[in-house]
Amino acid sequence: MKRRKLIAGNWKMNGSHKANAELVAAIAARAPELGLVEILVCPPAVYLESVGRHIGNAAVALGAQNLCEQAAPGAFTGELHGAMLAEVGCRYVIVGHSERRALYGEDDSRVAQKFLAAQACGLTPILCVGETLEQRQSGQTEDVLELQLGKVILAAGIQAFARAVIAYEPVWAIGTGHAATPAQAHEAHAFLRGQLRGHDAKIADSTRVLYGGSVKADNAAVLFAGEDVDGGLIGGASLKAADFLAICVAAQARAAG
Ligand code: PGA
Repeated sequence: MKRRKLIAGNWKMNGSHKANAELVAAIAARAPELGLVEILVCPPAVYLESVGRHIGNAAVALGAQNLCEQAAPGAFTGELHGAMLAEVGCRYVIVGHSERRALYGEDDSRVAQKFLAAQACGLTPILCVGETLEQRQSGQTEDVLELQLGKVILAAGIQAFARAVIAYEPVWAIGTGHAATPAQAHEAHAFLRGQLRGHDAKIADSTRVLYGGSVKADNAAVLFAGEDVDGGLIGGASLKAADFLAICVAAQARAAG
């Protein structure tokens, strides 16, 4: 099954009106020649609406970096409901990023609630999973991935993955400049897809699994060569138009080849 490549820019807590406008203009200008790739940008929530305006009619999707797990809006100071994100134009939302797990105490059950809350509002969750260096070194990578993905499958059901994306993001590779090797990525992606396959073969074939963690212009092609790698979740390199576009070009070439 042919899965459409997805290149998602996770801007994290970066940006300004001026920088966002320039970045989006550069991406939008090249989007027509990158039609085999779905391009997504996830700016800080406060900029979603203005970035959506900069995107205009260009083939660039908008996503949020986080959402509240609550089913209904209400007295949750500082939180954002999925319906609000959808209303300002989001189609995707990242859930369970390792920074949120490590710095903001999001555990697997909270991540599963966020996944459900996203889908309830028509948003496609990008579920991030990944092991720490310590977990990898002690041989726990597959156990960690199985647990992180398994909690969400248990909560949402396997069919929910028809409207979800998984991002394999080894924690030790995020922002470090040390990406996983293509072999490490391949192994983890095949494992994750195998987990899905244990529940439903069709879902396993159709669900996109992105790689994230120090993807750059110069390693994107080798990382995307893996047959189970359906694109990337890009942090640092998504803030520079030339770098992000070079990564999109690598995905386009892989899709065409
Ligand atoms: P990085 O971040 O590309 O800067 O390593 C990836 C991510 O955290 O999504």
